[in-house]
Amino acid sequence: MSRSVLITGGAGFIGSNFVHFWLEEYPEDRVVVLDALTYAGNLANLQTAVTNPRFRFYPGRIEDRTVVDGICRSERITHVVNFAAESHNDRSMVDPTGLIDANVTGVGILLRASKHFDIERFLHVSTDEVYGQIENGQFRETDPLLPRTPYSAGKAGGEMLVRAYHIAYGIPTVVTRGSNTFGPYQYPEKLLPFFITRALQDRPLPLYGTGTQVREWLYVTDHCRGIRSALLNGAVGEVYNLGGGNELTNLDITKLVLQLLGKPDCLIRHVPDPRGSAHDARYALDCTRIGSLGWRPQQAMHDALERTVRWYCDHRAWWEAIVQSEAYRSFVAGYYGPILGDDL
Ligand code: DAU
Repeated sequence: MSRSVLITGGAGFIGSNFVHFWLEEYPEDRVVVLDALTYAGNLANLQTAVTNPRFRFYPGRIEDRTVVDGICRSERITHVVNFAAESHNDRSMVDPTGLIDANVTGVGILLRASKHFDIERFLHVSTDEVYGQIENGQFRETDPLLPRTPYSAGKAGGEMLVRAYHIAYGIPTVVTRGSNTFGPYQYPEKLLPFFITRALQDRPLPLYGTGTQVREWLYVTDHCRGIRSALLNGAVGEVYNLGGGNELTNLDITKLVLQLLGKPDCLIRHVPDPRGSAHDARYALDCTRIGSLGWRPQQAMHDALERTVRWYCDHRAWWEAIVQSEAYRSFVAGYYGPILGDDL
């Protein structure tokens, strides 16, 4: 039977990639996007979807009960995939207000609607950051949640609501915890698109501290495939890690980017770390559980990074519109001005 899939946050980075993925993979399904179009949501990310008769877009917040209920009713939603979130650690440390609304309150509103409208499956997109940092080894789904930044604490709070709604009301929930994701349409505030777009402008790259922190990189289409596996084949009430298996220090991935762009390493600036003691040293995930559903990442790191770098080179108009906007410039000046000084 065909599905009517509500994708919240579908104008954001992973959300919009998931919209394109789903429309292509499931020609019988309808895709409904609810997105608040805050600074990181961008209708340009959905340009090819908007002409598709199986696609509908609603502007609005997941915290808005009237909007959420109205969509579930009128679009006869069968599946919810929740990408909507305030997702940037640096911003969360400056002001946690928005993240509590979206990452906690909004999740509660979606769960309430899922109960009321008897949704067949509710998938909540979470993050490996809910575990906190790990020096050696890998996190398993059964490990305790020990978040260390306001952003990851908000995501952990949202997860607790998902867990409670499943236990209390039997809502058929599934949670995925993804590792650092990269690819097309990523707002240029996260490490890779920020550094790629700055290097393309020959601007210095602010690497926090020594750059020895380790992240596990996952290409966005692999992330989308992992969410699909968990949504369609995951056990109800379960949590699934989605890790790319590619561990790199920030310094090493920055050098790779510069190499791919043909830019010199001297663009790197080691700046005082604005995340301070909340800067997680390393994330790494054990993906045995999702592996049992047949998922593993397909993209080789170097190829995926090369494709990503090429995408930003080929889509200058997309990111130039963002980096020239007043909102973006004022965030970059306010956050990086004090640590980059004249290199801003
Ligand atoms: O692990 C999954 C998480 O990955 C997601 O849940 C988050 O939404 C996503 O933002 C990302 O979190 P990180 O904080 O790891 O990502 P970000 O790209 O902001 O930073 C990656 C690393 O690069 C981190 O160690 C901080 C460092 N960094 C970042 C920026 C923006 C710098 O050294 N300089 C920078 O200017």
